[in-house]
Amino acid sequence: MNSTLDIIKQRTSVNKFDPAKTISENEIKDLISYAIESPSSFNIQHWRFIALTNKAEKEKLKAVAFNQEKITDASVTFIVLGDIKGLEKMPDILSSIKTANLIDQQMHDGWLQMANGMYKENPALERDEAIRSASMAAMTLMLAAQAKGFASGAMIGFDPVGVKKEFQIPDRYVPVMLLAVGYLSNGNWPRKPRLSIDSILSFNKMKQF
Ligand SMILES: Cc1cc2nc3c(=O)[nH]c(=O)nc-3n(C[C@H](O)[C@H](O)[C@H](O)COP(=O)(O)O)c2cc1C
Repeated sequence: MNSTLDIIKQRTSVNKFDPAKTISENEIKDLISYAIESPSSFNIQHWRFIALTNKAEKEKLKAVAFNQEKITDASVTFIVLGDIKGLEKMPDILSSIKTANLIDQQMHDGWLQMANGMYKENPALERDEAIRSASMAAMTLMLAAQAKGFASGAMIGFDPVGVKKEFQIPDRYVPVMLLAVGYLSNGNWPRKPRLSIDSILSFNKMKQF
């Protein structure tokens, strides 16, 4: 078993997947069970996933995603969505935390008031938050996939209007990214170099990056 740190260093964005291999729905659910352990503001969990395993559905997605071959080659391609109206789920989410005896009524009411104050009249922040949470979950999903011996590839190369239309996605959901998960094939790039630590990190104050 690889350590978490190994898995982080081993993950790369994969272009070439083995189109002959499939991943079962149970395995996909297991992957998602890790993704949903991601953090989110007020535990709103804005992430939603459509898992495309069916060739015809993947073809439809490919047609609105610059014909990226990995969409159909991967065993499963996820449309990762963010719920812009995630705040509406807060009462249910808070009730479950209260039922688990983690918070009392006062804290329940306080959090609800705080979340409403932050997001209710601020659609830009609601959208940012949906994208932030769904991105967190997508990253966890990529690491879980890596840990299970799969490969992954995130994609922003798609037409969001086309994706929403093709898959009848209501307006409250923003398509955040596509995520191909499957089995590695030949012809992929090795790890790409990163900017140096010194060029992206400063301590205690902003520096000229
Ligand atoms: C949000 C996001 C969108 C991306 N979109 C695409 C894409 O549409 N097509 C593609 O081939 N790669 C895409 N990539 C992969 C990046 O090119 C890749 O992450 C980057 O080159 C670093 O390589 P690595 O992931 O192998 O470390 C995307 C990655 C992220 C995180």
